[in-house]
Amino acid sequence: MISEKMVKEINDQIQRELFSEYLYLQMAAYFKGENLDGFAHWIEVQAREEHTHAMKFFNHLYERGAKVVLQPIQQPKNDFKSPLDTFKYAYEHELTVTKNINNLMELAKKENDYASESFLKWYVDEQVEEEDSFLKIVSLLEKIKDSSNALFMLNNELGKRE
Ligand code: FEO
Repeated sequence: MISEKMVKEINDQIQRELFSEYLYLQMAAYFKGENLDGFAHWIEVQAREEHTHAMKFFNHLYERGAKVVLQPIQQPKNDFKSPLDTFKYAYEHELTVTKNINNLMELAKKENDYASESFLKWYVDEQVEEEDSFLKIVSLLEKIKDSSNALFMLNNELGKRE
């Protein structure tokens, strides 16, 4: 039996995953406005991934006989100054998401909720990948500095994300 507290925390996490989708869509809009279509594509793919993260939690609650209660989604930041500023912000956001997932895992362990623990393991692994992919782009953008050639090369690379 899943606890009321865990149901509430997972409902909150659905909101946070949907907020991530919203935030990354706003970033895609910024990149489109800058004519950096490769960056826009990469972050749009990420936005879609966030939607699937939310839906996995959504389905998990129903599989456990619990109820989904959707929360309001706040407006994301929309005044990005540069690709580096944008990806640094996204990386910091992912660090926060990792903390949220770790808190959920701690709760599952404390409550001996083995089903949630097993389910959450996928998110623990996913966060390692997500932090890594955002950090790599931050690091490349730091190296690029003001080279527009290098920026356009990275833009082309990011546009290839499946
Ligand atoms: Fe759903 Fe980017 O973590």
